[in-house]
Amino acid sequence: MCWSLDGTWRFHFSPTTSAAPADAAEVDLDDSGWEPIQVPSHFVLTDDSRWGRPIYTNVKFPIPLDPPHVPDANLTGDYRLEFELPGAETTTEGIRPGEPWQGWRDFQRVLLRFDGVESIGLVHLNGKRVGVVRGSRLRTELDVTDLLRPGRNLLHVRVHQWSAMTYVEDQDQWWLPGIFRSVCLIGRPAGGIDDFWLDAGYDHRTGRGRIVPEITAADDAWPITLRIDDLHFEQTFASADELLPLDLGEVVAWDCDTPRLYTATLASNGETIEAKIGFRTVRVVGRELLVNGRPLRMRGVNRHEFDPDKGRIVSEERLRADLMMMKQHGMNTVRTSHYPPHPRFLDSCDELGLFVVLENDLETHGFELAGWVGNPTDDPTWTDHLVDRMRRTVERDKNHPSVIIWSLGNESGTGANLAAMSAWTHRRDPGRPVHYEGDHAGRYTDILSRMYPPLEGLEDLSDGLGSALTDIPGQAARQTDRPIMLCEFVHAMGNGPGGVAGYEHLFDTLPGVIGGLVWEWRDHGLRTTINGQPDFGYGGDFGEVFHDATFVIDGLTTPDGHPSPAMAEVAAQFTPIRLEMDQEVVFIRNLRHSADTSDLVFTVVVDGPDGEVGREEMDVPVIESGDEIAVVLPSVAPSAHERWLSVVASLGDDSAWAPAGHVVARAQVIIEPTHGPAATPRPRPAHLDGWQVGPVTLDPVTGRPSSWAGVPVSESDTTLWRAPTSNDSLRTFGSYELADVVATRGLGVDAPSSAERWRDAGLDRLVSRLVELRHDGDRITVRRRQAPAQGTWGVEVIEQWTELEGQAALGIDIVPFGRFDCTWPRVGWHLLLPGGYSEASWVGTGPGEAYPDSDAGVWLGSFSADIDDLCFGYIVPQETGHRPNLRRLAISGAGLPTLQVSSSGPHHPGFTLARHDAHELDAASHCSELGTSRGVHLYLDAAQHGLGSRSCGPDVRPEFQLWAKAVRIDLQLGVMR
Ligand code: GAL
Repeated sequence: MCWSLDGTWRFHFSPTTSAAPADAAEVDLDDSGWEPIQVPSHFVLTDDSRWGRPIYTNVKFPIPLDPPHVPDANLTGDYRLEFELPGAETTTEGIRPGEPWQGWRDFQRVLLRFDGVESIGLVHLNGKRVGVVRGSRLRTELDVTDLLRPGRNLLHVRVHQWSAMTYVEDQDQWWLPGIFRSVCLIGRPAGGIDDFWLDAGYDHRTGRGRIVPEITAADDAWPITLRIDDLHFEQTFASADELLPLDLGEVVAWDCDTPRLYTATLASNGETIEAKIGFRTVRVVGRELLVNGRPLRMRGVNRHEFDPDKGRIVSEERLRADLMMMKQHGMNTVRTSHYPPHPRFLDSCDELGLFVVLENDLETHGFELAGWVGNPTDDPTWTDHLVDRMRRTVERDKNHPSVIIWSLGNESGTGANLAAMSAWTHRRDPGRPVHYEGDHAGRYTDILSRMYPPLEGLEDLSDGLGSALTDIPGQAARQTDRPIMLCEFVHAMGNGPGGVAGYEHLFDTLPGVIGGLVWEWRDHGLRTTINGQPDFGYGGDFGEVFHDATFVIDGLTTPDGHPSPAMAEVAAQFTPIRLEMDQEVVFIRNLRHSADTSDLVFTVVVDGPDGEVGREEMDVPVIESGDEIAVVLPSVAPSAHERWLSVVASLGDDSAWAPAGHVVARAQVIIEPTHGPAATPRPRPAHLDGWQVGPVTLDPVTGRPSSWAGVPVSESDTTLWRAPTSNDSLRTFGSYELADVVATRGLGVDAPSSAERWRDAGLDRLVSRLVELRHDGDRITVRRRQAPAQGTWGVEVIEQWTELEGQAALGIDIVPFGRFDCTWPRVGWHLLLPGGYSEASWVGTGPGEAYPDSDAGVWLGSFSADIDDLCFGYIVPQETGHRPNLRRLAISGAGLPTLQVSSSGPHHPGFTLARHDAHELDAASHCSELGTSRGVHLYLDAAQHGLGSRSCGPDVRPEFQLWAKAVRIDLQLGVMR
């Protein structure tokens, strides 16, 4: 029974510990000069800079490495809450949060519960010291029975930004002090149940459920009855001695596909508790992680708790929406990186069906920069505290069926304390494996876990070469006796990750590799004002002098929850319904954990350049989990046009996590035209009237287009530049250009980033020289040489303009000269159109953007969109909006002629329509710095470089790199009036 103390408290802010009021806990202090604050909140986010500001660091500590001491400049918040407890009234009815609590005296004990206080809370009640809240994301319960008074009570909590705890909470995230999760009083009745664990297992051979009950209660609580109505089960235990394993008969197992929960009721002499239980058994057997006897194939994501306005306070709607979005994108596992989440999160995982790797609140990463000297995880003075952190993690969440793995923490080196935490966990809960990535040698954990290996590194791991991915002395080990998971892989920072497909393939095929979790779910941009405009801030935007800049902007969704294009890619890779097809047959493989395909409808769709030409529902038998079938596809009528044959698997009915029609999987093949159109003579180029080529007018001096359909156009140029993506710009790991190093060591070396190389090569500052401008009556030839200052390398560009059937036919040959010792970001043609253009419809790749190593979430079809929606609003402006394989594009705007671009192949260019060009995007570090748009920029690219994952992980794979090469772009520019 819980009485919420959330709401408005009184607050006093001090910039240093010594400035904090000495009498802040005193009952009679006149705090009328204090200010109101909401609990929960982070005080540094409540009133902008007056109460301090957030700080972002990744690995490094924002304070001197001087454990356990912290600087005097330690933001301190004093919180006071006065509350009334009526004294005489009695009721033992359940008390609802926020409602007045009648009859506190009925309770034998009263606990004061804190679910989250960063970094430490010193608690006084009615002027008396109660205790200390440690472990920012852990639950603390303090017994206040003897301190509560009838009538008025005064609670005081002093919160410090830094404390000894800071040294074990160095996660890659914002430092956000405050009481940021709920505070409540818990009434414990006489004869109540202090704690319970209904450890519910499932025997997949018999289909029977089993509960190992554990109930902690005083003598006056017994007998205690357990009831599970749906199983017609009831049993009364006279005492704890009678708590023996229970056979529940046949049950429906709990897993990610069928999250069947049963309501259990525990009734003691003093209270009745309802709990949701799910029957499931987790076992590591050899190199497999079995859930209910079936090997788990992990398709996961790392999730921090984050809200752009409230920091680590996530509303229930947002939390729920996140989980629904994960389910909709094929994810079956969440790692609560890097601390226990709000308890409600796990209720929803239980209900919706997501496996959880539940991580303890521990990271000491900054010690790595000091050679791990003094690392708390290997220092005996920290042993009890760290084991206690793990204990609280496990005890709070042990009843959740969704929790299948305990994780000791993140990036804390290795040491005896981690081994002790693991030993405690194994003893306490033999039913769940223990994970910790830093246990590279596999000394005390059950799963071999790694972060961001290249594919070769993963292969080495599967082969037992555990050394491939560690440079920590003494950590190498040869291991082939346990499952391998990537607790983090592919870094969703900015535009990317690319290359997910390679990992998915290895997860499916390499022995012992069970899958991985994308880093990470959400960008942690904090809503703020930058340059007088609303924007999302990152490291350095809040006055920090020592920070890690943009590295906190690395999620699959924006800070406010919009999925990035990478989400579609991840979904297409993660889908457990694998479709592989050619023109005649589709192979359908069901890789779901346990569910068959009876909830799915399979549809075959035929599209062509002029839209959909056929659709029919397929007759697909139900496919059991693990099975594969082949289904013959209807034949597609021969056509003079290409056809795109797709198979789409979608939900037949509404499910708990998506509406009917939600697409679960999709595959497509291109069917080439089976017969050509009646042989028509190739049109002859028309004689050109001056510098007019169809609807395009060329400037007679420069040879560049000056108008198109009467509309002024400008800035036409060949370009090799794209605004570097975060993956282009950062170089956390090495590059595939040094393939031999990668192959032997598993990682690259500290080579310059792509963007550094591109800038060194001057690709962002090519200047051009007109070599030749020739008018041959029916053809205009423009030859240019483009090169950077001091460059002996560059490109020769030959543009040939002819008029064919009223359209301007433009053929562009781009040929490199000199020596390029770097890749190219892109190679294409750019043109600036008036800003009045606002809509696009196209036949080609859509609906989203795509790059060579990230194109599984898109397909060929007919699409339309507002130009403003064609580019994604990456929080740090960068390359976006490329859609390869364009057949036809119409660009329209009110009062403007509709411009048309078509490509008849054989190489179809990609297109981008954007309000800012690559240089403008490149120059801006925030969207608010982009400035006024000069118009609509049309890019038509022969090719783009891949995305890779090098902001934290491997670079673009060789097969997706764009190296200097001769390319040709063929376009027809027309107008539709
Ligand atoms: C990992 C770390 C994460 C995050 C990620 C990069 O090393 O565990 O917390 O920092 O790198 O974004």
